[in-house]
Amino acid sequence: MRRSSTSRREFLTRLGGIAAVGAAATPGFRPHAMATLLRAEPIAGSRTAGQVAEDELYWSEIQRAFDADRTLINLNNGGVSPTPSHVLEAMIRDLRFSNEAPVEHMWRVLEPGIEGVRRDLAREFGCDPEEMAITRNASESNETMIFGLDLKRGDEVIVTTQNYPRMLTAWDQRARREGIVVKPITFKVPPPSDAYVVERFREAITPRTRVIEVTHITNLTGQIMPVREIVRMGRERGIEVFVDGAHAFAHFPFRRDDLECDYYGTSLHKWLLAPVGTGFLYVRQAKQRSLWPLMAAPASMDANVRKYEEIGTHPAANHNAISAALAFHRGIGAERKAARLRWLRDRWAKRLLAESDRVRVLTPLDDKHAGALALFRVEGLDSAKLQSWLWAKHRIVTTPIIFSEFDGIRITPNVYTTPDEIDTFVDRVLEAVRRGVA
Ligand SMILES: Cc1ncc(COP(=O)(O)O)c(C=O)c1O
Repeated sequence: MRRSSTSRREFLTRLGGIAAVGAAATPGFRPHAMATLLRAEPIAGSRTAGQVAEDELYWSEIQRAFDADRTLINLNNGGVSPTPSHVLEAMIRDLRFSNEAPVEHMWRVLEPGIEGVRRDLAREFGCDPEEMAITRNASESNETMIFGLDLKRGDEVIVTTQNYPRMLTAWDQRARREGIVVKPITFKVPPPSDAYVVERFREAITPRTRVIEVTHITNLTGQIMPVREIVRMGRERGIEVFVDGAHAFAHFPFRRDDLECDYYGTSLHKWLLAPVGTGFLYVRQAKQRSLWPLMAAPASMDANVRKYEEIGTHPAANHNAISAALAFHRGIGAERKAARLRWLRDRWAKRLLAESDRVRVLTPLDDKHAGALALFRVEGLDSAKLQSWLWAKHRIVTTPIIFSEFDGIRITPNVYTTPDEIDTFVDRVLEAVRRGVA
């Protein structure tokens, strides 16, 4: 297949406004990283994302962008992901440059690059740059929301038992300190319908409810929640809805207006593949005055989204490298990436289901309700022991989920995962099903 100059132009356009940002924020693309994407693009041609999802020629080019340790099979990319090698190099380059004269190079030359990152991320998420704060992870973003809103003794907050433990701990601390009331709801896995999930939240609302915290996609089973419906329900009743999107951004395509949300927190070192220690917090402009920052900012910054970035001295290199990761993400394309991730998920999940009647998948295998992250269990096998056996005997990294309401093994491949790695994992699980893990 030959690359036409039009498709090349379209591809470069998809990389987006990134090239247009100021010099300090220009992504540190090594020539070979760009070459990887340029080589891969004509292989994809004009085929749909679903068609490209199963084309190993295309994905083998993408795999080369990573220095992944292939002596093990890493199926826990949900915890934190490797960053493409050129993104890491951009960050290291900036760290070295910073260290030559930090006050000049880091503060004066590199730090202003954060404005380019803000613009890039806002464009991708679909909000105004003045609504986008760059943080170090989803925990920081979410805790800014959790601790940022004035609440009185007796005010109620609805969460689910499947919200991320650190967020629940943060709410619990507010309850202990200020006497707010946290009301956790449960829901079945997988839930029978979106309407059922919305109803579970609705049932918990009382006249004292001030906040709902909902996870866009849960870290336990990978369930994608009906966020827009919950946001609408909250808005009609004057309830703030905080969205924890730690696992969602750059995992599957969506934009702010699809969710209609006022608050959103995410990590970028998971699915955007940015370096460790990167995240964002979106707060709708009209909500900024009433949401305090986690670290103090002057009153003059009350309506300035940068008040959420008043964290003291920090490396500029990490947050500036976000733009390089975003350019790589756009080079693949959000639709194409999501289609591949789901294809990898189906390759293990559907085969396990087909070949063993003892396997249960607790994640709905459809596009509306799940991405790459899925949970399975084997009837009669201890999930923690199976996870240890996969690692100790076969160097396969998975995540044990031992939760009060269910348990299983969480699998999260990424764009550099090969079908061969997935097949090896499935072979080993089927061996464990047949022979046990003693
Ligand atoms: C749903 C959810 N929220 C928040 C977090 C916290 O992310 P981080 O550790 O990057 O701050 C995670 C991490 O896995 C998560 O899964």
